[in-house]
Amino acid sequence: MPVISTPHAFNEGQLYVDLEPTLGCSLYLKCEGFNFAGSIKLKAAVEMVEAAERDGLLMPGSVLVESSSGNLGVALSMIAASKGYRFLCVTDSRCNLSTRLLMEALGSEVHVIADLDANGGFLGARIDYVRALCASDERYVWLSQYTNQGNWQAHYRRTAPEIARQFPQLDVLFVGAGTTGTLMGCARYFREWHRPVRVVAVDAVGSVSFGGEPGRRMIPGLGMSMRPPLLDESFVDEVIKVEEADTIRICHRLARRGFLFGGSTGTVVSGAMDWLARRGGDGLTAVAIAPDLGERYLDTIYQSTWLEDLYGAQILDPDGGAPAGPAEPEPLPRTTIRRRDALSDPS
Ligand SMILES: Cc1ncc(COP(=O)(O)O)c(C=O)c1O
Repeated sequence: MPVISTPHAFNEGQLYVDLEPTLGCSLYLKCEGFNFAGSIKLKAAVEMVEAAERDGLLMPGSVLVESSSGNLGVALSMIAASKGYRFLCVTDSRCNLSTRLLMEALGSEVHVIADLDANGGFLGARIDYVRALCASDERYVWLSQYTNQGNWQAHYRRTAPEIARQFPQLDVLFVGAGTTGTLMGCARYFREWHRPVRVVAVDAVGSVSFGGEPGRRMIPGLGMSMRPPLLDESFVDEVIKVEEADTIRICHRLARRGFLFGGSTGTVVSGAMDWLARRGGDGLTAVAIAPDLGERYLDTIYQSTWLEDLYGAQILDPDGGAPAGPAEPEPLPRTTIRRRDALSDPS
């Protein structure tokens, strides 16, 4: 019986979904959403906070500040509340409303940036805002997930060894790329492993992490509007880019089978299914990482008005391009709720 006294002491690391019966694809999905912060970012948050404490950067009276599209913000809110620090999260209008409310419920202050930066994203504007805060008062401590080595080290020490223990015959690993902390930690670990593993990065179309043209991205988690400072492409074997419409279709197919995952899981699974179909993946041991669960996306990815406004009425058309899987029951009419203004930023 696990008994804990701090919220970050619990983090389920051994749960996998076999997607064969659900999507007809030989792929194991590592679930990272079963902890009190609800996402994989708990690992990075713990690593970065503990390192800052060890280094004497973070001390009683410090105010943590971080730029986050949500999940790291929730994890830091939880840790800050548990350890008695104040935390200010700088996010943007793509952050889910429920994620924002969650941070506030945990006692954090949330500042929302609504203006796009010169790259057509929010990241530059969020970082400028954090820098200005830090310059204004020395009590602010910015962990900087985009450059902090603890971000990838968390996955080198924990996520990758967890996978290696369960899948000693692993052939291919699919990892979504945001800050690339998860990707770089896993890629570095498996580069040193006893057998070759193909590490495939999955990114969103419109992200410039691996080059390419910037474009509209409405689903938080994956993708960047600048090159991720932690990224070293020499550790990455391949990159796949996924359209948001494909992400959404996979999220809904999984949900119709009872698995409610977050948006980035849809992206990673869509990319992995495509890759495995092209490569004839039968016989390969393949794992993908699911960074969070779906409840935080009920008013976006799982809300029909939001979907139709942004992607058109055909987005969930069963013939809309999703690869074939087991037959699914006929859908009932969907609830329509007006989209919230804070989430309506279209570009
Ligand atoms: C839902 C979700 N998926 C994926 C990622 C990407 O993880 P990483 O920053 O380690 O690349 C994030 C990061 O915030 C996330 O919130």
